[in-house]
Amino acid sequence: MTLNWPDDQPILDGETIILRPWRPEDAQAVFEACQDEMVQAFTRVPSPYQLSDAEAFVALGSQLWRQRSDVNCAITDDEDAVIGAISLMHIDEQVAQGEIGYWVADWARGNRVARRAVELLSDWALNELGLSRLLLRIERENVASIAAALAAGAQPTGITVDEEVRDRARNYGIYELLSSAT
Ligand SMILES: CC(C)(COP(=O)(O)OP(=O)(O)OC[C@H]1O[C@@H](n2cnc3c(N)ncnc32)[C@H](O)[C@@H]1OP(=O)(O)O)[C@@H](O)C(=O)NCCC(=O)NCCS
Repeated sequence: MTLNWPDDQPILDGETIILRPWRPEDAQAVFEACQDEMVQAFTRVPSPYQLSDAEAFVALGSQLWRQRSDVNCAITDDEDAVIGAISLMHIDEQVAQGEIGYWVADWARGNRVARRAVELLSDWALNELGLSRLLLRIERENVASIAAALAAGAQPTGITVDEEVRDRARNYGIYELLSSAT
């Protein structure tokens, strides 16, 4: 399977939100958003989260794009302020599959930002990049993330995964988004 991988990471314009590559000046907003206890509890960001973690994260995006392993996007509003992050990770060209992960800054929640971001990124990944299956790994107690994934069209696979992360036993449900050609 050959993916249709452009030289430059595209800007995905969803009108109410935009997904664009990270820039160095985004680090402060990422640092502030990642202090939130929900982001720390339900994602795999370092904890405690330092400004240097945010600086490293925003700097890594272009390298991962060139390696064709991950697509890391800032979610911004219509004034280009960072309101979240969404990534397409663990891209496997052989099986045309990847995994989506996201967070929305606590000051921007409840406005369908996550739903719209998953719709935008999955539409591009399935219809332009050429992946056929996207997975979402969501803790069963993460009601908000499950609701956002379902609202964006993801379906439960019925598969669950148990894993211990940071001394806490986690039980994940696996959701999927499929290309219409699948
Ligand atoms: C999960 C998260 C990304 C949701 O972001 P959000 O932008 O507020 O979500 P949305 O506004 O797009 O919500 C989408 C849908 O889920 C519903 N929803 C959102 N939060 C909900 C909650 N706490 N309980 C029930 N439903 C909820 C919304 O009503 C909406 O439904 P609708 O489109 O039918 O109206 C955000 O809470 C977050 O960043 N949490 C911490 C990090 C995290 O958990 N990341 C995901 C790891 S798997």
